[in-house]
Amino acid sequence: GDTKVPMSLLEKGAYINYQRIEDNLVIVRERLRRPLTLSEKILYGHLDDAQGQDIERGVSYLKLRPDRVACQDATAQMALLQFMSAGMPTAAVPTTVHCDHLIEAQIGGVKDLARAISINKEVYDFLATATAKYGLGFWKPGSGIIHQIILENYAFPGGLMIGTDSHTPNAGGLGMIACGVGGADAVDVMADIPWELKCPKVIGVNLTGKIGGWTTPKDVILKVAGILTVKGGTGAIVEYKGPGVESLSCTGMATICNMGAEIGATTSMFPFNNRMVDYLNATKRPDIANYAKQFAHNLRADEGAEYDQVIDINLSELEPHINGPFTPDLATPISQFASEVKKNGWPDELKVALIGSCTNSSYEDMSRSASIAKEASDHGLDVKSQFTITPGSEQVRATIERDGQIGVFEQVGGLVLANACGPCIGQWDRKDVEKGVANSIITSYNRNFTGRNDANPATHAFVASPDIVTAMAFAGSLSFNPLTDSLTGSDGKTFKTPSSRPPEDRASVQVAVDPKSDRLQLLSPFKPWDGEPKDLPILIKVKGKCTTDHISAGGPWLKYRGHLENISQNCLIGAINAENGEANKVKNQLTGEYGAVPQVAAQYREKGIKWVVIGDSNYGEGSSREHAALEPRFLGGLAIIVRSFARIHETNLKKQGMLALTFVDPADYDKIQPSDRVDIEGLDSFAPGKNLTLVAKHADGSKDEIPLAHSFNEGQIAWFKAGSALNLMAAKAKG
Ligand code: F3S
Repeated sequence: GDTKVPMSLLEKGAYINYQRIEDNLVIVRERLRRPLTLSEKILYGHLDDAQGQDIERGVSYLKLRPDRVACQDATAQMALLQFMSAGMPTAAVPTTVHCDHLIEAQIGGVKDLARAISINKEVYDFLATATAKYGLGFWKPGSGIIHQIILENYAFPGGLMIGTDSHTPNAGGLGMIACGVGGADAVDVMADIPWELKCPKVIGVNLTGKIGGWTTPKDVILKVAGILTVKGGTGAIVEYKGPGVESLSCTGMATICNMGAEIGATTSMFPFNNRMVDYLNATKRPDIANYAKQFAHNLRADEGAEYDQVIDINLSELEPHINGPFTPDLATPISQFASEVKKNGWPDELKVALIGSCTNSSYEDMSRSASIAKEASDHGLDVKSQFTITPGSEQVRATIERDGQIGVFEQVGGLVLANACGPCIGQWDRKDVEKGVANSIITSYNRNFTGRNDANPATHAFVASPDIVTAMAFAGSLSFNPLTDSLTGSDGKTFKTPSSRPPEDRASVQVAVDPKSDRLQLLSPFKPWDGEPKDLPILIKVKGKCTTDHISAGGPWLKYRGHLENISQNCLIGAINAENGEANKVKNQLTGEYGAVPQVAAQYREKGIKWVVIGDSNYGEGSSREHAALEPRFLGGLAIIVRSFARIHETNLKKQGMLALTFVDPADYDKIQPSDRVDIEGLDSFAPGKNLTLVAKHADGSKDEIPLAHSFNEGQIAWFKAGSALNLMAAKAKG
């Protein structure tokens, strides 16, 4: 019909488009002629070209049109800088930025927040002004954790969202397909380039029975993680279904989807149901609930839909679980936990209990935890372990302050931290245990790999529901089984929605980037292609494994992720030089002197000389970080020529306007000498499927003509010629 329902109360002019799903599905059903799972319906409902798209689960690559983008502050910096360099007035779809990752927990919410605001001032100022300028939503430090705020304000059933954070799937609790991606994907969608996703397989989790007692939604995902392990969800969407679903609250379903990231799933999601209606009403979005009801037939799986794998869980029989230490898929039912502690020699004394994180920081989570604390407090108990509480958003914090839960936490000795990621992402100035000393902590978070929370490799971190974590804080011991207690938690209440509207007059906003900053730097568009490359030096001939970590190292370098020039000082410093077997030591072919890879690259660039990299097999595997493609381009590289590429890195290079090329015969890698000068022939008639030629001119005067293959399509060739994908989109936007 002609209904127009806004995606969010905080945005104007952006509406839910259920009609597109309906229209696309008519075409897809005609083609596939089989029942569809829920996630297939939502995904295919967002296809860029439902008629022309190949659709085969686990095989084809889908080109999709997401409804929204979400970024957290650590990953947003380079994404926004890139988007700005495209020169577009605003993002193609509604986009929000959330300041939650950079706040360190030290002494308590208010003071920690003030400290973070002063330490990260330039980053926050940049994000605040850039979002204002380009009409994006901005959530300042202290407003809350990205996924909680999205659930409260932006997620809706049947939507498709990408987010630059691995726990973006949280929004699956409200029936959205929400996927964690790298910054490059976010920039694409903001710049109106379709988002590519390998057509996921589908794992069905059939829930029967009814949840209750000490068993919480968290225990569903702790159990599923134990069954599927940390790799079991790779390339798949996990779809929950069955009569048990209605016994889970909406924020509980979000908890389950959130931690689905730990099994490597593309995302997880639930079908539209009455608990989602309750939550939409409670968060003042009854129009969305009513609109979704009209399209409910598209928001659940078809009868008879087929899954690649099915898991059955009876909620009535499910025990609370505790997962860990050191990996989230080591699942132990609470009834066996004490004996496992003993058997494995895990430290029995519980040092710290932490509740919160994007996984478990809703009003419901806080309330259940507070009611357990209250009962203990009524019996005159204080916590035995340290106890920290992270509310998921300022809405949650203000509400639990109003309703007295914060008072209870503080009365029993708890420390309420800032509404942010805090210890979950290692932003924790932990003082009670020395590095290297074995000890146990338990959290309601999602991730517990070695050193994640406190950088101490000897810390045994366990993951459980907030209820179990709270009860254990009073026991101070891992061997305690709280199941004899008979407390049950209260359920969902209403939240208010704070404003994050971009200002009306955006033209006058100046984006704040201090030219002297070492953490942020504005980007200039890369130069367009300017003719046949001749006599290029080889910056490095890489031998063996070269992951995105070898190309752009993490750790301390992450501080510079908003400053391309500074972070480029890590470019390829981990790659092994085939000439001498060493890392970060290459010959400057102009001077004959050896230097660090980024320095030699910059020396070539200063002389106006483009260069190439020769690489081995599966070049660029690992995380999708876009810096690994931005840096060589920034330093003046023209082509990366390898035996084979990891696909995402290959695409990222193309987006930045670089030539990603492969040897037709992988053995030709051996014909290249590090001191060769190379020509690349055939770019004048650069076309899909047509090989190029590498002329390798050796120092002794001989040469080899080596055929090079590429996977550029027409659109990607246009990116190369324009200098980058963003350059091309900017040119289109100007008309
Ligand atoms: Fe933050 Fe931890 Fe979630 S880092 S986004 S609270 S997983």
